[in-house]
Parts: sequence; structure tokens; C-alpha cells
Amino acid sequence: MRSGSKDSGARTALVTGANRGIGLEIVRQLGAQGVSVWLAARESVAGEEAVDTLLNEGGDIRFLQMDVAEIGSIRSAFKTLSSQVGHLDILVNNAGVLLDESTSILDVGPDVVHRTITINTLGAFFVTQTFLPLFAKGSRIINVSSGAGEIGEGMTTYAPVYSISKTAMNAVTCQFALALKKKGIAVNAVCPGWVRTEMGGKMAPRSVKKGAETPVWLATEAPIAETGKFWRDKRVIPW
Ligand SMILES: NC(=O)c1ccc[n+]([C@@H]2O[C@H](COP(=O)([O-])OP(=O)(O)OC[C@H]3O[C@@H](n4cnc5c(N)ncnc54)[C@H](OP(=O)(O)O)[C@@H]3O)[C@@H](O)[C@H]2O)c1
Repeated sequence: MRSGSKDSGARTALVTGANRGIGLEIVRQLGAQGVSVWLAARESVAGEEAVDTLLNEGGDIRFLQMDVAEIGSIRSAFKTLSSQVGHLDILVNNAGVLLDESTSILDVGPDVVHRTITINTLGAFFVTQTFLPLFAKGSRIINVSSGAGEIGEGMTTYAPVYSISKTAMNAVTCQFALALKKKGIAVNAVCPGWVRTEMGGKMAPRSVKKGAETPVWLATEAPIAETGKFWRDKRVIPW
């Protein structure tokens, strides 16, 4: 029997938006620790290619088609996953978009606003809610947020809607953390830092390896009692 299937004792993880960037690296690092990982992506070809790359490096990685902007796609992904695994130990809500760089909140268009909030905030909300039946005591949910969502210090006018979407994602984190605390399920938000990806650009100082480090730590080693917090570099940061 393959690890991560209904009756095995292996840890099982699901990572969204994982065909490239920080998500792909989170899958790689979890796989290297022996976690059985479902790599979710909205585009099947890109997702399958990413899985093939990681399988060549070793690890138990499988593809799951899921567009986090579509509730039908999230539900259908849940059906597929729950027919194959009995539980989820780790969910990483990583999928995200940055559509309003250098745009002013004074005139940003409705399409950009709706798409950004739908993917960055509501995606994490509905994926978490839909996959809840697979979580149990000891499960961990990690929301990949951003320092741009920090109301206190991080927020600038650089990408206003992206910032709002991540502030709201932090609130989603707090609400699920409160609601799931009694069940022993930890829910945390994490800023990966400024990372060299398509989103972060070439000038970013951090590698994807460094960007994935704290999300992976929260998914595996962080004390399970730590919940409802915002992290960067394994330290709590202000909301
Ligand atoms: N890079 C940074 O400096 C930085 C800093 C702070 C926070 N973050 C956060 O880290 C996360 C990963 O960012 P990244 O830098 O790795 O970005 P990236 O390279 O642009 O990758 C984003 C990923 O999200 C996926 N995605 C977008 N919309 C989706 C949807 N509707 N359904 C499913 N997947 C979707 C993309 O898939 P496609 O290939 O199909 O588009 C891609 O796999 C994001 O949440 C981002 O906000 C990044």
C-alpha cells in the first residue's frame, strides 16, 4: 500500500498553488521529510509537470487539480482527495496573486479587487472550510500571508488590494484558529519574506528555500499549541 493512502500512518499534506514558486518548494521540503504530499494546482499540465519534477527527486507526491477561486473546483478536489486519504495532517493555503502593483486604491478596477480577494482571502477560507472533515487533533493549517497585510508596520500604498487581501487572510486565520482550538487543530499565518519568484521578482533577496522554511516548520516541527499567530523566520510578528 502506498503511504498516505486511507490506512497508512504516514503524514499527509495538501499544498495549494504549488506548481511553482514558494508552494512548489514547500512540497519539495515536506516530501523530503517523508510527508506524503498532494500538490494542488489550477492548471493540470503545469501541476503534473511539477509533480514529475519532484518525483524524479524522490518522495511521495501526487497531483490534485484545484482552482481556489472556484467553489465547484474546491469541492470536486475534496471529493477526489477524500476518496484516497482518510485524513489530512497539513494544509498549506499558499495560492496567491499580486495584480495591483503600483496601482492606487483611488482608481483600481473592480475586476482586480474581486479576483484578488477571491483568490487570496476567500480561497484560503473555502479550502479550509471544505477540507475540515479530513482534519483531526494535531492537524496544522498554514496560511501563506504577507508582511504587506500588517496593519501596523508592513502596509504601504504599493499594492493596496493585495495588502487588504492579506490583512483579511490574517483575520480568516484568527477566526479558524479560535473555532478549531478545542479540537487541537493549529491555524497560523506566515510571511515568507521577499522571495525570488514570479511574484517576488528577480531583485528579491530570499531564495524559495528560505521562503519555504518557516511555512514548513509550522507544518511539521512548531509546537502544536502555537495557534492563531502570525510568523516570519520562526518568530511571531505583529498582525
Ligand atoms: N514572493 C514573495 O516575495 C512573497 C512575499 C510575501 C508573500 N508571498 C505569498 O506567497 C505565496 C506564494 O507566492 P509566490 O511568490 O510563490 O508566487 P508565484 O510564483 O506567483 O506563485 C503563485 C502560485 O499561486 C497559484 N495560483 C494563483 N491563482 C490560483 C488559483 N485561483 N487557484 C490555484 N492556484 C492559484 C499560481 O498558479 P498558476 O501558475 O496557475 O498561475 C502559482 O502556482 C502567495 O500567497 C504570496 O502572496 C510571496
